[in-house]
Amino acid sequence: MKNSYLNIFSFNKKNLNKTIKLLNKGEIVGLPTETVYGLAGNAYDKLAVKKIFNAKKRPKYNPLIVHYNSIKNISKDVKTNLFFMKLYKRLCPGPITFILKKKKNSKVNNQVTANLKTIAVRFPKHKIVRSILRSIDYPLAMPSANISSSISPVTAIDVYEEFKNKIKLIFDGGKSKIGIESTVIDLTNEPKILRPGFISSSKIEKILKIKFKKKIKEKKIKSPGMLKRHYSPGIPIKINQIKPDYKSAYIYLGKRFKNRKGFFSLSKNSNLNEAASNLYRTFRIIKKKRFQKNTNSFNSL
Ligand code: TXA
Ligand code: MG
Repeated sequence: MKNSYLNIFSFNKKNLNKTIKLLNKGEIVGLPTETVYGLAGNAYDKLAVKKIFNAKKRPKYNPLIVHYNSIKNISKDVKTNLFFMKLYKRLCPGPITFILKKKKNSKVNNQVTANLKTIAVRFPKHKIVRSILRSIDYPLAMPSANISSSISPVTAIDVYEEFKNKIKLIFDGGKSKIGIESTVIDLTNEPKILRPGFISSSKIEKILKIKFKKKIKEKKIKSPGMLKRHYSPGIPIKINQIKPDYKSAYIYLGKRFKNRKGFFSLSKNSNLNEAASNLYRTFRIIKKKRFQKNTNSFNSL
């Protein structure tokens, strides 16, 4: 199918080969995953990794997730353990990322891991990224395909809006089904969730037969996903509040405020999975409304 975006390509064998060729040459490309779209490059290639950081304007201290096709491909890069094996069996491929100890001889570029002694490992489920991972002999470093601290993309056009023609290829794999990121879990010691995501902590507790410790306020930020400003649409967003202050956008579940200015329902039937999959789309709609009108008041929402 033709589209008016010159760097958005639809799914067929020719475009799959084109993508693989670009990656083999050290280029970076936009790829669909079941969670959000990613900006992918060869995790073993210093220059490809540099391109990802530059395009995203990502701070060097923020490490990237490394994506593999299956457990068979990770043995040279990370040390596994029993917790990992249990979660892998039940949840992979799927929306969970494991922090594991990096092996000494791992070829994963040091910038990918921000010089940490760990690697974030994920096995994505989307069929396009899986066909690519099967055809290459290196894993893909792949952060979400947005400029740092902006909203994560869930369609090929979202990716285009972030990078325009600065990347050569964006593979269109439809809207990401899940719509929010993978859960990041640190398995280097006692299991600990560093970034909440689609897989809930209770699900993980059940599989591992453990109970997570109650949250104590962390002073040190372990995963930059914990930074205060993140996924920012540029104006305040409030959840489950009734009184508008005309400065913020409001998100909620259900259809109570259907016609109220500035109110956005994430799911008319209050379905949490649907709400998750609409979250970033709604942020993007809010951002566009705010900026298109170019007024000093937020009433235009
Ligand atoms: O669903 C996802 O996880 C998506 C898709 C594209 O796979 N990717 C994604 O990547 O969300 P990114 O770069 O936007 O977020 C990765 C998160 C960041 O918060 C980063 O700090 C954390 O994972 N991270 C990566 N490596 C880490 C490590 N070695 N230790 C602790 N946190 C790490
Ligand atoms: Mg991100």
